[in-house]
Amino acid sequence: MDINKIGVIGAGTMGNGIAHVFARSGFEVVLCEVAQQYLDRGMATVRQNLEREVARNKITAGESAQAIARIRGSLERQALAECDFVIEAATEKFEIKAEIFRDIDRICHPGVILSSNTSSISITKIAALTKRPDKVIGMHFFNPVPVMKLVEVIRGLATSDETYATVKSLAEKLGKTPVEVNDAPGFVSNRVLMPLLNEAMYAVMEGVATPQAVDEVFKLGMAHPMGPLTLADFIGLDVCLDIMRVLHDGLGDPKYRPCPLLIKMVDAGWLGRKSGRGFYQY
Ligand code: 3HC
Repeated sequence: MDINKIGVIGAGTMGNGIAHVFARSGFEVVLCEVAQQYLDRGMATVRQNLEREVARNKITAGESAQAIARIRGSLERQALAECDFVIEAATEKFEIKAEIFRDIDRICHPGVILSSNTSSISITKIAALTKRPDKVIGMHFFNPVPVMKLVEVIRGLATSDETYATVKSLAEKLGKTPVEVNDAPGFVSNRVLMPLLNEAMYAVMEGVATPQAVDEVFKLGMAHPMGPLTLADFIGLDVCLDIMRVLHDGLGDPKYRPCPLLIKMVDAGWLGRKSGRGFYQY
């Protein structure tokens, strides 16, 4: 099947970035949300990030306008019926994704690949909710999506070679580098990254060092572009906690226990950059 029109579910940090890169690469996009305010915010972010690319001479003003024109917002999931490929980028909760996949399995043509940008939830489990488990796959982008080169492509137990090959080629058309991994909690990226961020939080909680000092260690000592606490704020502390819980539940090893300070901060509504406060104030 030729892929021209992409359905993106969720216009949050990842969803708007995904809509941005598909539209910039010439695909038509249907961006689906549950409320107009989320759609407006997502579209405003796409515009702002495209303008940033124009300002840095990555694209022309005309290309930016064309990319924006290729994105159509919708509050109706039924609009995904006309799409040739769907990627879900909703909240990182299994129940939410389960409801979406059951619904889009009903709405979309049986030949359409249904992918998820999940950062840690089992693709095998999501696929089993549909009548097309061979056409369900993980397509995991990284924040900021327009900048980061990686797409982690996750094969569920039933994912077919054809589905994998299609998604690999789609990622390449976006100018990204796909890396193939098998389905396991947190895949490779978050299996390794999140325990690092979690451990950095323990170091702060135990008074080993301030967030600034921990971040300096990683920026200057290990050449990380952002220290682990700045990165956690950037990703969102709620997202970090959700992922730690998936690792803890899925792998059953106490070494994945979420840091109590992380839990407390999320309970307080300190979610990082997006809420104005996390390990730092914004
Ligand atoms: N959207 C689009 N473009 C952005 C952007 C954004 N939000 N933020 C920065 N950029 C672009 C800039 O335009 C610039 O582009 P150019 O180099 O082509 O001109 C480039 O990114 C660098 O930006 P700046 O010079 O302004 O800033 P920095 O040099 O500080 O870089 C950064 C910013 C790219 C965010 C860098 O700090 C970085 O790489 N941080 C680490 C990000 C990271 O690790 N992401 C992965 C998170 S894990 C994840 O997403 C998985 C999930 O499952 C949790």
